[in-house]
Amino acid sequence: MSESTDRRTFLVSAWKAGLAFLAAAGIWTSWDVLRPRLAAGFGARVKTVSPDAVPTDSVLEVFEARAYLTKVNDEIVAFSEICSHLGCRVPFCQSSGQFECPCHGSVFNRAGDHLTGPAPRGMDRFAVEIEDGIVVIDTNTMVDGPPPGTVTVDEPSLGPACSEESHG
Ligand code: FES
Repeated sequence: MSESTDRRTFLVSAWKAGLAFLAAAGIWTSWDVLRPRLAAGFGARVKTVSPDAVPTDSVLEVFEARAYLTKVNDEIVAFSEICSHLGCRVPFCQSSGQFECPCHGSVFNRAGDHLTGPAPRGMDRFAVEIEDGIVVIDTNTMVDGPPPGTVTVDEPSLGPACSEESHG
């Protein structure tokens, strides 16, 4: 077998391996995004944790409800993960202690107050109840987040942002 044939065979194999990897990554991403959320209770009442397990200085992500739980001024609140701007999922940045939308840079404090960016309001929230000692998030009952300028808590950024764009 000639050297050029070996090289061609190698390149074809590399292309096939690359395409297979991309296909697998696409399937995994689709599965990861769709499976847990559709199967686990979004659109319903989602049982979570005991009130004592809800953090006061961070958030607890509840994947089944697409929500974050935290305590704000001793009250348990559940924020929707969906950005009030154009619907991107908003992650909580542990280093800054704030929610930072990766799509267009909106930033919200831990209480869901709008700090910066194009979002028209703070983070929307779900109704929360305590049932049999467990926090239940009602994902069918959504309340719009507060208007920009609302200061529910005065918590400056704890440290570096996770997304450069969010502080741009
Ligand atoms: S979707 Fe979050 S800032 Fe645009």
